[in-house]
Amino acid sequence: MKILVIGSGGREHALVWKLRQSPRVSKVYCAPGNGGIAAEAECRPVDVKSLESLVAVANQIRPDLTVVGPELPLKLGVVDEFTRRGWRTFGPTKAAAQLEISKSFAKEFLQRHHISTAHYAICNSMDDVRPALQHFHPPVVVKADGLAAGKGVVIAKTKDEAATVASEMLSGKMLGEAGARVVLEEFLSGDELSFLVVSDGERVAPLVAAQDHKRVGDGDTGPNTGGMGAYTTRTIVDDKMRDWLVTHIARPVVAGMKAEGAEYKGVLYCGLMMTARGPIVLEFNCRFGDPETQPILMRMESDLVEALEASIDGRTSDGDFRWSDDAAVTVVMASGGYPGAYEAGKKISGLEDAAKLEGVEVFHAGTTAREGAFYTSGGRVLGVTARAVELQTAVQRAYDACGKISFEGAHYRRDIAARALKR
Ligand SMILES: Nc1ncnc2c1ncn2[C@@H]1O[C@H](COP(=O)(O)OP(=O)(O)O)[C@@H](O)[C@H]1O
Ligand SMILES: [Mg+2]
Repeated sequence: MKILVIGSGGREHALVWKLRQSPRVSKVYCAPGNGGIAAEAECRPVDVKSLESLVAVANQIRPDLTVVGPELPLKLGVVDEFTRRGWRTFGPTKAAAQLEISKSFAKEFLQRHHISTAHYAICNSMDDVRPALQHFHPPVVVKADGLAAGKGVVIAKTKDEAATVASEMLSGKMLGEAGARVVLEEFLSGDELSFLVVSDGERVAPLVAAQDHKRVGDGDTGPNTGGMGAYTTRTIVDDKMRDWLVTHIARPVVAGMKAEGAEYKGVLYCGLMMTARGPIVLEFNCRFGDPETQPILMRMESDLVEALEASIDGRTSDGDFRWSDDAAVTVVMASGGYPGAYEAGKKISGLEDAAKLEGVEVFHAGTTAREGAFYTSGGRVLGVTARAVELQTAVQRAYDACGKISFEGAHYRRDIAARALKR
């Protein structure tokens, strides 16, 4: 069968890499893809912000299955449109993707269905913000309602700062449309966990859990990014916790969406804070996470195509995935200046040496290929990924590989999975 993957990041490279391993797959296309993906899939240019452009590409390729990586095409209704045309597509409809597209929708949904989430207030103007702030203790988390590519959340140290941030969001100056409504949220502390399941609208099949590292600097310092690295191990959550998360979060969400007439099919990514009062939902994503997908797929032993088809056909089951007990870790190498302004077009060297290391896969994110060489073309450039029986070895392998790769201005965190290693 022919598969089309939509997107251009490290997540899509990992999806292409994994889908190609399925004996049922004869060819993988990626639109638009990137320099590294082009070595494994046929890439087609596309504007992922245009439904017309996505339809045109799929119409040329006529894939037997389409997998949507990023959130924007989901918001455009790519799954609705492709499905209407009879093209099998994995992912949620636009209505179901509201769980990610609107944080206020997600918060009210969680409250309606008694699923644990941080205390919050939804504000449409500063007239809502000022009185609402009286019910919060600083720090206060201020979130833009809409999609903001990881730039829509500010943790304000004081109520004054929270009011200033909310005002900038609401005025449209900071994030445009995405900030037209804001959610104020209680600050929670604990370890973050990314818990992903695949659903067919009714049942769920959990993936192994992972932890992302959001901040740009070591020790969780500096501004938030799209994610600077992630890891997964067989002990990151035990069986009891996994069952709890399925019973108290994933299944109730899927059941709630069905009851509300917006059946949820696809990956449901639950962003959780593991607090002293238990796991609490921070947000949902309606797709595979980036960079969590890279280490998660390194551990997947079953055929991903089968699980995606089971979701589309309404026959997801708990046992759709089989996993290696190995640990896997991804270290993101980023362009100088990221998550702020950065320069592109820097030549990348050492990729071949890095890929030769045992257990290592280098997934490309922001790269282009030109005359046999790779150049940077984005903020997050590479997801250097390694697996091994022990987490410590996987971490060592990933950093050995990073040490072989260089490009001007490259930076990466040195402490991915460090807290797990200390435990
Ligand atoms: N209530 C909260 N308490 C503490 N930290 C939070 C809270 N909500 C979000 N964060 C932090 O901000 C990050 C981004 O928030 P999230 O809701 O996941 O939005 P997005 O991924 O859309 O930017 C989280 O990964 C977490 O580190
Ligand atoms: Mg998030």
